[in-house]
Amino acid sequence: MKLIHITDIHLTREGGTVLGSSPGKNFSECLEHILVHHGDADLCVVTGDLTHWGEPEAYAYLRDILSGFPIETRLLIGNHDDRPAFRAAFPGAPCDVNGFVQWSEPTRAGRFIYLDTNEPGTHAGHYGPDRQDWLRGELEANGGEACYLFMHHHPSPIGIRAMDDIGQADAQDLRSILFDYQDRIGHIFFGHCHLPLSGTVCGIPFAALRGTNHHGWQDFTGSPFLKGADLTPAYNVVLLENADCVIHTIDFNYRGPIAEFGTQFEDWTRESEAAV
Ligand SMILES: [Fe+2]
Ligand SMILES: [Fe+2]
Repeated sequence: MKLIHITDIHLTREGGTVLGSSPGKNFSECLEHILVHHGDADLCVVTGDLTHWGEPEAYAYLRDILSGFPIETRLLIGNHDDRPAFRAAFPGAPCDVNGFVQWSEPTRAGRFIYLDTNEPGTHAGHYGPDRQDWLRGELEANGGEACYLFMHHHPSPIGIRAMDDIGQADAQDLRSILFDYQDRIGHIFFGHCHLPLSGTVCGIPFAALRGTNHHGWQDFTGSPFLKGADLTPAYNVVLLENADCVIHTIDFNYRGPIAEFGTQFEDWTRESEAAV
């Protein structure tokens, strides 16, 4: 199964900018690149911060952009999103019985479980008892089946103070669920940090990546301020086969030359010899 993971597209109204960059243009270029190079993808998941201000016009813009994108796409909400505005723009979006934008579905690779960590009025992630009960139910319902989790916030601290100040506020509660079901969760995919990240949480591998509009910078000084830099945007291509997971990060706006090398031993000539 080929999965596309995109995160933090931060759309505004059409023509708007965020930190001097056009989120609509960047997201559209991302989708165009996917269609050219990975049009055979089975599914695309956008892990939240669909918009920057949660404006109804931004969700309408997102709907317009996606109307021409043929790959099935799943949309999660993040701290920059507005749940009622999202649901108004996407009335068919699945929700749990409490109205949170979270659901699950079977795929060829296993069950995909999409979480809603949005809490109005804060940039931190929240996953209260009602949402926790729902997640435990989903994990129990599929006894033994491989599951993959998708969420906006990082489920556990990443060691960057400002980012962790707006991380998962109830990380310990979430960790207890992850710990209980670590054997059946194959991977966790998230965004929010605008940083390329990989590692494990409660023994479960995770991956995150830069957004498509603006990018984080790793500041380990303990500063309370988030840092950003004008780096390359990316999307991830995730290959899920035979319970293995391989993740490629694609720098989709790279416009430079592509070098080519043979793979035979003698093809890797030393520079000095090649120049002779
Ligand atoms: Fe974001
Ligand atoms: Fe976020």
